[in-house]
Amino acid sequence: MKKLIIKRQTSFLLFLLLVLAVLCTGEADTSISPMEKTEQEALYSAIQGFVGNWWNGSDLYPDPCGWTPIQGVSCDLFDGFWYVTGLNIGPVHENSLRCIQNVEFRQHLFGFKNIKTLSFFNCFISPHRHPMNIPTQNWEKLAGSLEFLEFRSNPGLIGQIPTSFGDLRKLQSLVLLENGLSGELPVNIGSLINLRRLVLAGNQFTGRIPENLDGLTQLLIFDSSRNSLSGPLPLTFGGLTSLLKLDLSNNLLEGELPREIGNLRNLTILDLRNNRFSGELTQSLQEMTSLEEMALSNNSMGGDLMKIEWNSLQSLVILDLSNMGLKGEIPESMGELKRLRFLGLSNNNFSGNLSPKLAALPYISALYLNGNNLTGELKFSEWFYGKMGRRFGAWSNPNLCYPVQLMSTGHVPFGVKPCQKDVTIFNSD
Ligand SMILES: *[C@@H]1O[C@H](CO)[C@@H](O)[C@H](O)[C@H]1NC(C)=O
Ligand SMILES: *[C@@H]1O[C@H](CO)[C@@H](O)[C@H](O)[C@H]1NC(C)=O
Ligand SMILES: *[C@@H]1O[C@H](CO)[C@@H](O)[C@H](O)[C@H]1NC(C)=O
Ligand SMILES: *[C@@H]1O[C@H](CO)[C@@H](O)[C@H](O)[C@H]1NC(C)=O
Ligand SMILES: *[C@@H]1O[C@H](CO)[C@@H](O)[C@H](O)[C@H]1NC(C)=O
Repeated sequence: MKKLIIKRQTSFLLFLLLVLAVLCTGEADTSISPMEKTEQEALYSAIQGFVGNWWNGSDLYPDPCGWTPIQGVSCDLFDGFWYVTGLNIGPVHENSLRCIQNVEFRQHLFGFKNIKTLSFFNCFISPHRHPMNIPTQNWEKLAGSLEFLEFRSNPGLIGQIPTSFGDLRKLQSLVLLENGLSGELPVNIGSLINLRRLVLAGNQFTGRIPENLDGLTQLLIFDSSRNSLSGPLPLTFGGLTSLLKLDLSNNLLEGELPREIGNLRNLTILDLRNNRFSGELTQSLQEMTSLEEMALSNNSMGGDLMKIEWNSLQSLVILDLSNMGLKGEIPESMGELKRLRFLGLSNNNFSGNLSPKLAALPYISALYLNGNNLTGELKFSEWFYGKMGRRFGAWSNPNLCYPVQLMSTGHVPFGVKPCQKDVTIFNSD
């Protein structure tokens, strides 16, 4: 009721409208419920630390969880009192809370008893003039409530992940995307057993991937792409059986892919491009039957593809195995991946003839075979070359050719020469 009295002078009409609205939504009790003074002042002060002292919360937003909501702040009722449940700092919307250059994390941030979501977008932006570290202390105060923690697009946010993040045992989502963070990943991330999403992409993290992540049995998304992580993929990854997406592309990871990776039966995206993995492809890849995207390109793994039953991966839409030092023939069973749209096998050392089945894949819209040692006559149709244009790449296969009679149609594979009568390809040099 106090709030109503304060607002008495503003407008009787407004009051009437509100009463009407309250009656209509049946939230008479909730919309005028009070807020603890400490909670309210903590909110004003925490925000002021990011947006500057000119921002006078009590003046601008006297009732932050009711009449005068603050963009980016959400509240909920607990035992008749309003509490802050979400705080989103950064220019998401037109009238969002925007950060000044001299941002500060105030202690009040750790005073919210019921906060579930905390996010910072584009807030710490100047790595040279005003670099900031994530506070190392006090995160345990949010351990009982915090479920979503996000720092996204903050180039001025530097230093390491605080080990005290490991105390946030209710965390379901930890997103540290595209900041200036560095150092090793703290081992105690492995104790965040409720995590469903762990995104660490686009920082400068180094060192190995902790081996104890197998406790994260709820994890659906693990994205640590675009860092400088090194060492092997831990065998324990096979324990992350809930995973839907695993993206470790663009790091310095090395060693063989563990056989255990085949345990990830629900995985739909496996992206390990641009690393230093070696050793042959493990046969257990064929057990990842939910895979829609497999991208392993730019790892010098070597070996051939013949051991894997490709036709067991019937969900595959994107298969990128280019620049991997692969040899041998292109398996005919790849021609049975009926959903395939993208097949990249370029810049390997594949040899032998191509199966015409590849061109018959119903949805194929990009097929790159360039930069290999394929031989013989291409048996695809004029219609196929016309449809694909340069998205059919067969150039740089010196011993490959297309039938001479196609020349008159104008639809010929780019960069491939016509077969010459009476000259056998194999002796062409
Ligand atoms: C905010 O404004 C109120 C009244 O206008 C004033 O009493 C208070 O000191 C101001 N607070 C800050 C932090 O400037
Ligand atoms: C895999 O997905 C299925 C179907 O969505 C689900 O029932 C199952 O629990 C998942 N497996 C794991 C280990 O999460
Ligand atoms: C492959 O890796 C090299 C060197 O790391 C990089 O320059 C190149 O862009 C990568 N290619 C692709 C297709 O990502
Ligand atoms: C490709 O394989 C052949 C033998 O099959 C080998 O002689 C040649 O060195 C390989 N080329 C490359 C670039 O690996
Ligand atoms: C290409 O394959 C032929 C045999 O089909 C082989 O003689 C030749 O060495 C291979 N070239 C390369 C560069 O691997």
